[in-house]
Amino acid sequence: MAEQEINQLTPDQAAEQAADLRTKLKNWATEYYTYDAPSVEDSVYDQAYEQLVALETAFPQIVTADSPTQEVGDTTLPEFTKVPHDVPMLSLGDVFSVAELRNFTHRLVEQGGVKPEFNCELKIDGLAISLRYENGKLVQGSTRGNGQIGEDITANLKTIKSIPHQLNKPVTVEVRGGECYMPKESFVKLNQQRQTDGLAPFANPRNAAAGSLRQLDSKVTSSRNLSSFMYNVADYDDLEANTQSELLAELKALGFNINENYQVAANFAEINEYVDKYQVQRDDLPYGIDGIVIKVNDLASQLQLGNTVKVPRWAIAYKFPPEEAETVVRDIEWTVGGRTGVVTPTAVMDPVILAGTTVARASLHNPDYLTEKDIRIGDTVKLHKAGDIIPEISTYIAAKRPKTAVRYVIPTTCPSCDSELVHLDEEVALRCINPKCPAQLTEGLAHFASRNAMNIDGLGPKIIQQLFAKQLVSDVAGLYTLTFEQLVTLDKFGGKIC
Ligand code: IVH
Repeated sequence: MAEQEINQLTPDQAAEQAADLRTKLKNWATEYYTYDAPSVEDSVYDQAYEQLVALETAFPQIVTADSPTQEVGDTTLPEFTKVPHDVPMLSLGDVFSVAELRNFTHRLVEQGGVKPEFNCELKIDGLAISLRYENGKLVQGSTRGNGQIGEDITANLKTIKSIPHQLNKPVTVEVRGGECYMPKESFVKLNQQRQTDGLAPFANPRNAAAGSLRQLDSKVTSSRNLSSFMYNVADYDDLEANTQSELLAELKALGFNINENYQVAANFAEINEYVDKYQVQRDDLPYGIDGIVIKVNDLASQLQLGNTVKVPRWAIAYKFPPEEAETVVRDIEWTVGGRTGVVTPTAVMDPVILAGTTVARASLHNPDYLTEKDIRIGDTVKLHKAGDIIPEISTYIAAKRPKTAVRYVIPTTCPSCDSELVHLDEEVALRCINPKCPAQLTEGLAHFASRNAMNIDGLGPKIIQQLFAKQLVSDVAGLYTLTFEQLVTLDKFGGKIC
C-alpha cells in the first residue's frame, strides 16, 4: 500500500488491517519455520511484512507486543530439547532496493563515530545455527528458534562434514552463526527422490536443510549431504580479529568452513559492484543465496552501534528481487513413475527464458497441488525457480484467463494401462498399482539395465519400449532369452550388434 493511502486510514482501520496482516504472517511463519513447508513465496511474505511495518510506522499506537515485527519468527518443535540462548540470536533487517541499501550505508557514515568500511557477504539460503565449543571440543549445536530459545540438534549437526568436532585451538567459543545449507545438487536429487516416493517436494534448499536438520534420526540428516558456512561469534575471550573480514579468516584458521566470496568495500560504489556481480553469478553458485549481507567491518564500531531487540544496527540484508517469467500452459501431461507407480502431472508450456535457462515444463507435483493452484490449459502463468533451481508455477494470471479455460479434471485411470488409480493411505500422490503396467515395467527394466545397476550396454529406454511394444519381453528374465533374430528386427539396433 502506498504511503499516501496509509495516511488516509483512520487508526481503527489501520489497526484492523494490521491485525489481519499479523494473522497471515504468523500462519505463514509457522508453516515456514516450524514445519519447513511454506504455502506462499518468500516475496509474498516480505511484501505483507513491509505493509505491516508501514502501517505500524504511520500509527505507532497500533503496535502490539506479539506483532511479527517485534519478534524473531522461528519457533521450536516439542520433540527437541530446548536450548536457551544467553546472548539472543538475532535476525537481519531487510531492504529490497539498492536505493534503500544506499540510505542504510549513508546514514551510518553520516551519523559519524563509525569506521566507514563494510564487509560484503553472500546471504546463504540456509538455516541459522549456533555451535558451542569448550576447550576446542564441540559440546552443543542448536537452531535459532525464536532467538531466545532454540532446539538442541547436536547429534544431527555432528553428521555434517564441514562442522569440526575438534577445533585447531583448545578455545571456548560460541559460533553463531553460521548457516547450515543444502547444496543445489543435493536439493534437486532429494526432491526427485521425494517425487518418486510420492512425498511432497521441499519448496527451496532452506526448507530442505531445515527439514533435514530437525530429524529425530541422525542417519536421515547424515544422508542429506548438508554443508555449512560460519560467520560470527558470541562471547569469545580469545578473539584476535578487529574486523568482520579478519573474523572470517580467524574462523577459517580454527577449522570452520567460511564462504570465501566476501569482499571489503570502502564506499557505496564498491558495495553496488558486489551486489551486481553476485546478482549475475548467483545461478552459477553451487548453493542458493537470496541476497547480500552488508556489515560494518570494524568490530568496535559494530559494538558501538549495538542491536535493536530483533536485528543488529550494523548490518543489513539486501534481498534479490524474485526472478519471474510469464508463459502459456499448452498441456498438462501425466506420467507414471517407474518403480513406484506414482502418477505426476507436468505443465507443458511455451518455452521461456528464466534465470538463465529455457523452461518449457514444470512439475505440478500431485493432484492436490494442481487443484489448489487451479491451473488450466490456456492459462498465462507466472513462473519462478524454487530455490533458484527448479522451475515452478507461482500462480495463473486471472486477468489473462481465456473464457474457454475449464477446471482441469484429474484422471481416474492410468495414462499407460488404463487401470484405476488409487491414493494409498493418506498420500497426496496418485498411484497406478497394476503390477503389469507397461510404463512401470519399461521404466523398471530401464533402471535394471542402467549404468548404476546391471550396466547393459545399448539397452536404453527407447530399445526397451520397442521390446515391449513387440511383446518380445515383459520382465527382466525375458531379457536373457532374447535371440539375435529378434534383436535385429528393432529400429536402430542392427549396428549395435557385434
Ligand atoms: S549475519 C547478528 N551473515 O540470514 C548476526 N546472516 O535473514 C546476523 N544469513 O538470521 C546474521 N547469510 O540466518 C549473516 N552472511 C550472512 C548470512 C546470514 C545468511 C541468514 C541468517 C540471518 C538471516 C536473516
